[in-house]
Amino acid sequence: MADAVGKTAEDCGVVIQDDWPGYSLDLFSYPAHYSGDLDCVYIPHGVIMDRIERLARNIMDDLGDSAIVVLCVLKGGYQFSADLVEGIKALSRNSNRTIPMRVHFIRLKSYQNDQSTEDLQIVGAEDLTFLFGKAIVDTGKTMKMLLKHVETFRPKMIKVAGLLVKRVPHSVACLPDYIGFEIPNRFVVGYALDYNEYFRDLDHICVISESGKRKYKI
Ligand code: HPA
Ligand code: MG
Repeated sequence: MADAVGKTAEDCGVVIQDDWPGYSLDLFSYPAHYSGDLDCVYIPHGVIMDRIERLARNIMDDLGDSAIVVLCVLKGGYQFSADLVEGIKALSRNSNRTIPMRVHFIRLKSYQNDQSTEDLQIVGAEDLTFLFGKAIVDTGKTMKMLLKHVETFRPKMIKVAGLLVKRVPHSVACLPDYIGFEIPNRFVVGYALDYNEYFRDLDHICVISESGKRKYKI
């Protein structure tokens, strides 16, 4: 169902409301080395996978038989991009459409502790023809810069898939074409999202605790 500005639920992703407390950590398994470092399980791994399966289907429906160059935005986007590629591969296996895919990697770094820093680094992105794969979009500044960069390669089409979009006060209104979840402005970790390089080995998306922040602060 579309709203007044033509946005459908599908465009917005799964909306997680500000008052969502997450699930108790006691209800799920997670690595013992992170006990005490987390407040809650915010999005369980299974839910992430189910949502990605649907995103893969939407992408396939939109892109038809075009060859896809998946641009995986490292480091946080590696798991999302890999699972999205697997989802697209599974769908092509189960239909008689074959989608040629190449995977490229681009590395962006803009966070230290839980704060954004200005020095974005792009490392290695030659020969791109087109498209996507980012774990998180908050202000949209990084995404805008990334798109500008990718446009210099004159791709046929660029689409961006973002697993998480945060509701932040100063967003630059640059939204991914495919959104997994829209979440409140909280710092989350897991599913390849890090806090100073920790928590990438956690499958669920979780909220870090204050003591976790102190423990891994640099
Ligand atoms: N978690 C991890 N990395 C991030 C986040 C976050 O919530 N926001 C931007 N980069
Ligand atoms: Mg990071």
